[in-house]
Amino acid sequence: MKKITKELLKWYQENKRDLPWRHTKNPYFIWISEIMLQQTRVEAVKVYYERFIKRLPTLRELASIEEDELLKLWEGLGYYSRVRNMQKTAKILVASGKENLPNTKKELLRLPGIGAYTAGAILSIAFDNPTPAIDGNVYRVLGRYYKIEDSITKPKTYTVYENVLNNIIPTQNAGDFTQSFMDLGSLICTPKSPKCFSCPLKKDCQARSTNTQEQYPVKDKKKEQTVEERVVFLYVYKDKIAIQKRENKGLLASMYEFPNTLELLSAIDVENNLLEKKIDFSSVYEIGEAKHVFSHKIWYMKGFLVELEEPLENFLWVTKEELQSKYSIPSAFSYFYDYIMEGERFILE
Ligand code: ADE
Ligand code: SF4
Repeated sequence: MKKITKELLKWYQENKRDLPWRHTKNPYFIWISEIMLQQTRVEAVKVYYERFIKRLPTLRELASIEEDELLKLWEGLGYYSRVRNMQKTAKILVASGKENLPNTKKELLRLPGIGAYTAGAILSIAFDNPTPAIDGNVYRVLGRYYKIEDSITKPKTYTVYENVLNNIIPTQNAGDFTQSFMDLGSLICTPKSPKCFSCPLKKDCQARSTNTQEQYPVKDKKKEQTVEERVVFLYVYKDKIAIQKRENKGLLASMYEFPNTLELLSAIDVENNLLEKKIDFSSVYEIGEAKHVFSHKIWYMKGFLVELEEPLENFLWVTKEELQSKYSIPSAFSYFYDYIMEGERFILE
């Protein structure tokens, strides 16, 4: 066994975090945790994970749950395509008579939402099969330890790291090996100011010996995020509020949302637009601004509460209770959602 491998495994044995998904080897549970952890912090995932596996303890139950309830279980985690793909995968597997996830890379990679990282994580963690799972922690720890000069923003660099990992991954305890990077990367070898003094790899780490830790892993400059300004309308009629379903592709595909447009308007503009369209309303309030950062986009949103004298067509009119229990509104709108649920001026009761 390579020195780095021994040091990582030993350190992991003594320092691993006690996390809910570390008390199981059930591939279905490991898969759920890995998908949740892809874009959400460990602390936040814990409660979602426990609730999810309690409500959906097997692949079969995931395959058959109503989509609206499924999205509700996911609400707050964001990136809903992750859970939609999970259900697709569950349906495919159940339809072909499977009770759990397959144990080969080839079969896993064919399933919706499972790429090289997730396949590697499932194979190593659930099956202790020595398959690399390369995430940001792996890039950071290995990039620094070996001072790898290839930029991780280039697709080809993946195989550089894959080769390095294949060289050091142990034939046993692959799951501990994979997870040692996650814990070392979050506890010690952090993006800023790594705590090299308590690192098990400090003796042979090349970035440390040249004091260049923060220059690794090497990255090219990333391109700018696009910025969008939007107006969000909380249309209210009697005890109902208007929502709509987004189109089935692109950002937040098929999610419910409050009506909104790609422009910035003042309260006067909103009133004039309503008057022009001969829509009867009793009031327009400006209710504040919110910002949401997606991976490649930023929304700056300004909200208006519009009390109508007649319901507008083409929207779904729902009560506050229905909004809470039946529909899942993406967290991009949480400022406005909270306004509806808690806003003092809001007249729905
Ligand atoms: N991030 C992704 N997978 C993880 C795991 N199994 N444990 C801790 N953090 C993770
Ligand atoms: Fe990371 Fe420092 Fe450990 Fe090197 S010595 S792997 S830079 S924490």
